[in-house]
Amino acid sequence: MTRQAWVNGVYIAAEEARISPFDRGFLFADGVYEVTAVYNGRTVDMDRHLDRLERSLGELKFGAMPDRKELEEVHRRLIADNGIVEGYVYLQVTRGAYGSRDFVAPDKPRLTRFAYAESRALIDTPHARNGLRVISVPDIRWSRRDIKSVGLLAQALAKTEAKAQGADDAWLVAPDGHITEGASSNAWIVTEDGEIITRALSNVILAGVTRHALFDSLGQQGRKITERSFTLEEARNAAEAFTTAATGLVTPVVEIDGVKLGQGRPGPITRGVQKLYYTAIGADVSKAAPWVLD
Ligand code: PDD
Repeated sequence: MTRQAWVNGVYIAAEEARISPFDRGFLFADGVYEVTAVYNGRTVDMDRHLDRLERSLGELKFGAMPDRKELEEVHRRLIADNGIVEGYVYLQVTRGAYGSRDFVAPDKPRLTRFAYAESRALIDTPHARNGLRVISVPDIRWSRRDIKSVGLLAQALAKTEAKAQGADDAWLVAPDGHITEGASSNAWIVTEDGEIITRALSNVILAGVTRHALFDSLGQQGRKITERSFTLEEARNAAEAFTTAATGLVTPVVEIDGVKLGQGRPGPITRGVQKLYYTAIGADVSKAAPWVLD
C-alpha cells in the first residue's frame, strides 16, 4: 500500500511529498512538531499534543495557527488511509518558504504543514520488555527546550553516540550534573523506598504529554510523584528508572553508562507504571503485555 502523507492541505503519496529548500524549517529549524501515539486505531491524547503545538507556535511568535479542526481530521484520515492500528502520527509546522534566506522572520507567515503516519509496535517491543541501556551525554541544547522545536541536532548526535557505544539511548546531563531528560523522552527514577521522581517542568525540559498522563493515572491511584531534579550519580544508584514518550510510552531503563540498576532488569514499580499506562490507553494487558504481570 502506498503510504499517504499530507502536505499543506493535500493528501499525497509520501514519496511524492515536496517542500521548498527555502523553507525556514530547512534553513533555520524554524518550526515545531508533535508525535502522537496511535493505539487501537485511535490517537492517544491528541488534544494535549495539539495544545502543546499551539503553545510552541505561540512562544515562537508565529502569528498564525494551523486550523485545529483540520489537524484533527488529518490525524483521523492518515490513521484510516494508512491502516494504522498501532503506531504514531508525525505533524510538523514551519514558518514557511519565502524564496530567499533572511534571518528576520516575515511579518505574515505562510505556514508549511506536513504530516504522515507510521505503523509501529508501541507496547510489545524488546525495549518495553527488557529495558534500555542508556549512556549519559552533556546536554548541549538551547535553553528553550519547553518548545518542541525541530532543531534536534543535539538529540540526533546523542542517540547516534549511544548507538556507536552499543547502547540503546542517551540521557542528557546539564553542566550542574543533573539529568534534564532523555534525548527524546522524559526521564524518571525510582528510589529503594519506591519513591517515583521526575524533574519539575521548566524551560529546560519538554512538558511530555505521556508524563502528564502518568501524573493523572498515578494521582487517581493516590500515588505521589516527587518533582525534583536528580543527579547522574543518583540515577546510577537508583533502584529503577524509566522513560516516557509518545514513541516508547513507558520504557524501563536497566543500565546507565554500563552500571546496572538494581538487578539489571525492569523493576516492579516500573512494571506497575507500564501496566497502569497501557490500561489507561485501552490495552488489555493480559494479551498486549503479559510480561508486565510477571
Ligand atoms: N519526543 N523530551 C523530549 C526531548 C522529547 O523529544 C520527547 C518526545 C519527550 C516526551 O514527550 P511526549 O511524552 O509528549 O512524547 C520529552 C518525540 C516522541 C520525538 O521526538 O520523537
